[in-house]
Amino acid sequence: MFTHRPRRLRQSAPMRNLVAQNRIAPADLILPVFVKEGIQQPIDISSMPGVQQHSMDSLKAAAHDAVAAGVGGIMLFGVPAKLDAQGTAGTDPQGILNVAIREVMAEVGDDMVVMADTCLDEFTDHGHCGVLDDAGKVDNDATNKIYTQLALAQAEAGVHVVSPSGMMDGQVAVIRDALDEAGHTDTAILAYSAKYASAFYGPFREAVDSALTGDRKTYQMDSANRTEAILETELDIQEGADMVMVKPAMSYLDILRDVANMSPVPVAAYQISGEYAMIEAAAANGWIEREPAMLESLTAIRRAGAQNILTYYATEAARLLA
Ligand code: PBG
Repeated sequence: MFTHRPRRLRQSAPMRNLVAQNRIAPADLILPVFVKEGIQQPIDISSMPGVQQHSMDSLKAAAHDAVAAGVGGIMLFGVPAKLDAQGTAGTDPQGILNVAIREVMAEVGDDMVVMADTCLDEFTDHGHCGVLDDAGKVDNDATNKIYTQLALAQAEAGVHVVSPSGMMDGQVAVIRDALDEAGHTDTAILAYSAKYASAFYGPFREAVDSALTGDRKTYQMDSANRTEAILETELDIQEGADMVMVKPAMSYLDILRDVANMSPVPVAAYQISGEYAMIEAAAANGWIEREPAMLESLTAIRRAGAQNILTYYATEAARLLA
């Protein structure tokens, strides 16, 4: 005779549902979107089936679809027509990302949280997340100065949340100071705190027409390291981060759990382009079932400790979860 028969609680769908320890609500999800300057029709991203570079019109439609599905937030990435060494398209109030912020705020700003990627890699001709010094290295402090301008431009466009993702030391502190000095005390900061250098960002490079050659290993974290994620998160919280993020998600669930255990502020995780692409590719080949794999991956990210999940599946998953 067994005292415990754990299978009792697995015997039916209602029973399993009753005792499920983790559930995702549509409001927990954040949809990352790409908007490209100068196009009238959206362009498919071949390495991310179902994801597109949006025109301004298709972006607005996607934002409305997300709201209708109950998605909690939208994260905007801009793909400018012109790049330069300083990434001026990012700080220009008429730059594609800042225009998109104003448009999306006007459409759905009362119905969902509007966020923007606060980084230079989409705007620089060399594709790095910062500006380069004479030796061609990413210059931390010079980059931080431009990040303050980026954040200010985004705040002035009305964004609810700026999201520094470049992994420069001190980036959250300088952005918080600059926002406060300009009176943007209500603009929140979602810090990409534990962001690892990852091969799984591959499809994102296509999504933003990235010019990067080489890698980001001098500023993003080394996948071999664990405790450093705690240090990075502590620093960002001390510097004023309102929310923190672990990225990527699926190969870093241990890190996510560590950060969730120590963080007094909400923790997000980003299911990135390559993680999305792997599920899509395997499903397209008939090797896995698409919807169950999607929902299982999101549940695992929640179980590991993410309150909010950035995922290209946000709208579709929200419909399935509603
Ligand atoms: C940097 C940024 C990247 C992603 C989000 N913000 C690219 C990088 O760090 O190389 C990747 C997102 C994804 O792969 O889905 N601005």
